[in-house]
Amino acid sequence: MIEIRHLAKEYNNNGTVLKVLRDVNCTIRKGEVISIIGPSGTGKSTLLRCMNRLEEPSGGQIIIDGQDILAPDANLPLLRRKMGMVFQSFNLFPHLTILENVMCGPVKLLGMSKSDARAQAMDLLRMVGMAEKADAMPSDLSGGQRQRVAIARCLSMKPEIILFDEPTSALDPTMVSEVLSVIRRLAKQGMTMAIVTHEMKFARNVSSRIFFMYDGIIYEDGTPDQIFGNPQKPITQAFINRIRTLELTAKSRDFDLYRMNADIEQFCQKYSLDEQVAMRLELVLEEMLTGVLPLDGPVDIKVDYSEKNYDLFMEFVSRAGNLPALSSVSQDNLSCKVIQGSCLDIQETGNCIRLKIRK
Ligand SMILES: Nc1ncnc2c1ncn2[C@@H]1O[C@H](COP(=O)(O)OP(=O)(O)O)[C@@H](O)[C@H]1O
Ligand SMILES: [Mg+2]
Repeated sequence: MIEIRHLAKEYNNNGTVLKVLRDVNCTIRKGEVISIIGPSGTGKSTLLRCMNRLEEPSGGQIIIDGQDILAPDANLPLLRRKMGMVFQSFNLFPHLTILENVMCGPVKLLGMSKSDARAQAMDLLRMVGMAEKADAMPSDLSGGQRQRVAIARCLSMKPEIILFDEPTSALDPTMVSEVLSVIRRLAKQGMTMAIVTHEMKFARNVSSRIFFMYDGIIYEDGTPDQIFGNPQKPITQAFINRIRTLELTAKSRDFDLYRMNADIEQFCQKYSLDEQVAMRLELVLEEMLTGVLPLDGPVDIKVDYSEKNYDLFMEFVSRAGNLPALSSVSQDNLSCKVIQGSCLDIQETGNCIRLKIRK
């Protein structure tokens, strides 16, 4: 359906030429869901923006349904209609109600009657769970709600493909899942989509294919299982195997457990670890701090999580010296029992206790 051949884009900054896209080649078929992942600055946004010609490519071809949209006589308004785009920063019209935001495109650009546009807008708002707020203003909504309206507005133009550029990156972690659920639903309905995202679990579960972008090209592409389970190139492997970490410190016995728990919850939300896992981490932390560790000096706590194999560790390192081995703490110590029940593995070396947390 969409074929991209030798797409190139360079920016000229006062004489220095920056080749952002060097040679992008791919085909996206109808009904496919493509997640585009990769380090920042590798041209992911530029690729999406070139696809609907928000940016003018420097070379190559983009062929949609047999037509090269980079040709001088290409019908730009028609092209933009075929390609919906959802940005990080929702971009709703602030002076229009939610309903008006979703109605105005079809009325102004597709010539739809107001009553048809209203009916369609209500259907779409229902689909994204926002019908209740039809008469509200964008400023009355949370970020997640605004983004769901932005998706409804995009759908109102009946696009053939939707391009998402980090649709959840600007959101508070608590609001990420409501937006991802809407996108997941569109995927189930067969919507063709290309999604630039940092949500690895989502990319793995929802996509039909993954493009890993690096250095201005699609460096590696494949099914989610291939890219996440068995990436072929070292740079892809390094990216996929990145470990996510959260660092906390208990400086003394007067540690702030509430603050640490809030940080753990935010970390878990960010990396799609469910609430039960967050509760287990909090439990282990509390038992370690109140029942096991002497806290006669600061203890550094690190949570690390691999997005590749989903291993989760919590590590305690004392700056004051050796820690008591859990195995040496009394058999009756309730904290120890709770911790052992929450862990798959316990490693103890001198001033470090590393726990592999059950998930
Ligand atoms: N309008 C622009 N002018 C000059 N350089 C730009 C412009 N837009 C993006 N770039 C540069 O292009 C590179 C790729 O940007 P981008 O496509 O936004 O990457 P990504 O979305 O993968 O993080 C970056 O180095 C960025 O600074
Ligand atoms: Mg970007």
